[in-house]
Amino acid sequence: MKQLIQNVPREFFSLKSTPAYLFDLDAFAGRVQKIRSLLAPRARLCYAMKANPFLTHTAASCAGRLEVCSPGELRICERLGVPMEKVVLSGVWKDEDDIRRTVRTWGGANIFTAESLGQFGLLRRISEEEHCPLRLLLRLSSGNQFGMDKDAVQDIVRGRGAYPQLTLLGIQFYSGTQKKRLDAIGEELRQLDEFLAYLARVWGYTAEELEYGPGFFVPYFVTDPAVPDEELLAQFGSMLDELSFSGKITLEMGRFLAAPCGYYLTTVRDVKCTQGENYAILDGGIHHLNYYGQTMAMKHPYFSVLPKDGGTAGETADYQLCGALCTAGDILVRKASLPQLSCGDRLLFSRVGAYSVTEAISLFLSRDLPQVYLWSAAEGLVEARGAVPTDVLNAPRVSSV
Ligand SMILES: Cc1ncc(COP(=O)(O)O)c(C=O)c1O
Repeated sequence: MKQLIQNVPREFFSLKSTPAYLFDLDAFAGRVQKIRSLLAPRARLCYAMKANPFLTHTAASCAGRLEVCSPGELRICERLGVPMEKVVLSGVWKDEDDIRRTVRTWGGANIFTAESLGQFGLLRRISEEEHCPLRLLLRLSSGNQFGMDKDAVQDIVRGRGAYPQLTLLGIQFYSGTQKKRLDAIGEELRQLDEFLAYLARVWGYTAEELEYGPGFFVPYFVTDPAVPDEELLAQFGSMLDELSFSGKITLEMGRFLAAPCGYYLTTVRDVKCTQGENYAILDGGIHHLNYYGQTMAMKHPYFSVLPKDGGTAGETADYQLCGALCTAGDILVRKASLPQLSCGDRLLFSRVGAYSVTEAISLFLSRDLPQVYLWSAAEGLVEARGAVPTDVLNAPRVSSV
């Protein structure tokens, strides 16, 4: 646990108010560089910004691409000045007006994914109407609503002579997250390799690219198995070496890049013993923290206690660490054996860099969104967002009923 605290920028401990997220931009950039170099020259990196849009700007400077999946995410990229050449505009539904605006504004600088024959037809029509060549990745489905099946991909590839203004770069594939088994990832790669070879053999189509999301596992809980990055990526690299596909491989990653680079700070606001159970009530909760795979708070995430007086209390006790929401489900950790807690002590949760800030149920109970701080050695601690009231979002715009 000490180790975890050692890496946290000191300024974060002295924040006046909580709850707050801290995203360590230097740690994130360092991690992206490290993973890039472990994968080079076999594959490049694409950051899936849905994991944490607050890291977009940093990702744009150190990852080759960004996977952008909604008009809102695209607007974030535009505001931050992300080079459009780096953007893969993905998304199961793309609105015609949004596509047209993007094409008119950026002149086809970004890549689009095509996720259905209908979406492909729309991209084709807009490309023709706007006299703008477009580059596409054809998303292959893993058996859900995303992407197309192999027959649909073949239909597009077969007819490619009819749409010279579209460059079919290759295939995009992502089947899910938190994959513990590397052999399952290897099997996916093998099947993609086979399909790419088939397209070349049968339809004379040689894909330039494969864009693949491996969904690497992040150990969130103290009982999770942890494989060092070097070991995991060496094994994964050997799998890439075995592919007969010789085009460019780009790996879309969110969680694996971002998770270790974020923290969440919350304060103990009440402590009580009820029917023999110790409860610490926090000013944060499950509306801000989202650990994939958590079940009824039974698993213990990585966190540390920061006592308000800096001291280390003696005797320990078991605590239920509960959030501020009005639901019995708002428990962050069950049965945590900790030194005596008192009001004002703080808890620092680690591995919060991915998805908590976007996926947690933050509108429930109309509590404020937490503050967001970014840290880098060059800029120090910077408030990226203050606490945002959500009551205005959860009510109609009338002054009285
Ligand atoms: C198309 C696509 N690529 C990449 C990712 C990132 O996945 P992960 O966070 O598991 O790396 C996602 C996540 O939903 C996705 O939908």
